Amino acid sequence: MAIGIISAMPEEVQSLIDVLQHVSVSEKGMRSYYKGTINSKEVVIAFSRWGKVASAITATQMINDFNLEEIIFTGVSGSLEGSLNVGDIVLGTEMYQHDMDTTPLFKKFEIPLLGKSFFETKNNEKLENAAASFASHIKDHVPVEKLEQFKIEAVQVKKGAILSGDQFISSKSKVAELKKEIPNALCVEMEGASVAQVCFEYDIPFSIIRIISDNANDDAPIDFPEFTKAVACKYAKGILEKYID
Ligand code: ADE
Repeated sequence: MAIGIISAMPEEVQSLIDVLQHVSVSEKGMRSYYKGTINSKEVVIAFSRWGKVASAITATQMINDFNLEEIIFTGVSGSLEGSLNVGDIVLGTEMYQHDMDTTPLFKKFEIPLLGKSFFETKNNEKLENAAASFASHIKDHVPVEKLEQFKIEAVQVKKGAILSGDQFISSKSKVAELKKEIPNALCVEMEGASVAQVCFEYDIPFSIIRIISDNANDDAPIDFPEFTKAVACKYAKGILEKYID
């Protein structure tokens, strides 16, 4: 059985393909699925594209075409928590679709017909250890000038709720609204909870790593592209290589 790795960032996918061995590629529905091995373990890697629908398509195709034991999603996210800074790592425990609202038919955030307002991730101690080890050796993975540029000093690893929706969040008022509704939310992104739903419905264990790229405020669009290229792809590769070791 293989580990499925899905990322919303082409640069992250490329950094993993660079270390993939015995590679074969299949193309379906505007996506490429790279099968191969990392540290002798079979893995399948794909770029999800952006948003809940795109990522759900990718996860469903991957589950149907490959014999997967689990899916791990990696990517960047906007911080919803004052104590979380650019470069910190969030491991999702509960995945919410923050733009799901079918009130008054169902409670706010509840996914119709599943009776769930969030999806739990796998209890993944090995991934926590891989992330903690990566964080404490950050200087071996990311060039010092990039750490300085993004003011990354000590990298924190936190576990908590992650919110997904088809919106790039870049205003303080939206952050305040999301925090008021889901106080334990750590960060916001656009894919994780839809992949979590697919994994729930197909009974595949799901884990997620999100690196904070911005504070979901007015600066978000400026920080974001440069950070992904220069920093985030090093995190994905470093953490997953340790995890798969
Ligand atoms: N991914 C990274 N930053 C984000 C933000 N601010 N909103 C939504 N998705 C993101």
